[in-house]
Amino acid sequence: MQWTKKDILDIESLSAGEIELVFETAFGLKEISERPIKKVPTLRGQTIVLLFMEPSTRTRISFDIAAKRLSADSVAIAGASSSIVKGETLIDTARNIQAMKPDILVVRHSSAGAPHLLARNLDISVINAGDGMHAHPTQALLDMMTVREKKGDLKGLNVAIIGDIAHSRVARSNIAGFTKMGARVCVAGPPTMMPPGLEQLGESVARDMDSAISDADVIILLRIQKERQRRFLFPTEREYAARYGLNAARLSRIRQDALILHPGPLNRGVEISPEIADGPFSVILDQVTNGVALRMALFYLLAGGVRDANVD
Ligand code: CP
Repeated sequence: MQWTKKDILDIESLSAGEIELVFETAFGLKEISERPIKKVPTLRGQTIVLLFMEPSTRTRISFDIAAKRLSADSVAIAGASSSIVKGETLIDTARNIQAMKPDILVVRHSSAGAPHLLARNLDISVINAGDGMHAHPTQALLDMMTVREKKGDLKGLNVAIIGDIAHSRVARSNIAGFTKMGARVCVAGPPTMMPPGLEQLGESVARDMDSAISDADVIILLRIQKERQRRFLFPTEREYAARYGLNAARLSRIRQDALILHPGPLNRGVEISPEIADGPFSVILDQVTNGVALRMALFYLLAGGVRDANVD
């Protein structure tokens, strides 16, 4: 299959075949990060700009490392240190960046649709690194890649997504992705954190956390998005932890081959207790490791690479 997409904006606009191609490419590139010299010349001469208008640790560093492992030049700029704070519009900022002839723009923004707007107005490739409550496609791709690596196939798996579904771009992208790849997705969380109309959209909504996780092959825990909530949506963090936190008591009720994922950053002791986050069911740091390979794969495909190209 040949890659034809200019941008990576959301999971919905990728086909199952394209997602498979991303996985295959990422698995092929993953071993570069295990070499003594973790660098190949594949994207030498390419320039990648990382424009992050919201805080980030994992996503920004992962994109930056991915670019460097492929020998692309990467330039990172944070919103707070850009001329956007002086009143320049996002489109003007992006057009000025494009005038410096980069090849790919990675953008994180608090407004849903901001990367789509840039993609429509720029000739260069745009990758969505998270837009408001809308989408986080590279997080969903690396989550699915991690499950695919551990379980062999996504088809037929039961995936439980627990927590703040309403405010989570990770939940939205993972629901779209796992469903597209043939998994069954069930969600659970406080009623105040459930977007309206989920059941009408065909999503399975569990009545409580225990019924969602009891038969799950994959459990994805979400961070409570305090920065996106306009009001407190649960009485206390202690109550949230008791009803929707994954802790040692709940561990005996899950499948003993279940995988536990979390996109990070963790609220330890709230949605996940420390012994679970650091325990044998957790693949949280595998997600982070795979994130680099996954983003290398996206750069490689967007830059016109073909799977069989020599990456030595
Ligand atoms: N998972 C994720 O997006 O983490 P960061 O906010 O640290 O990038």
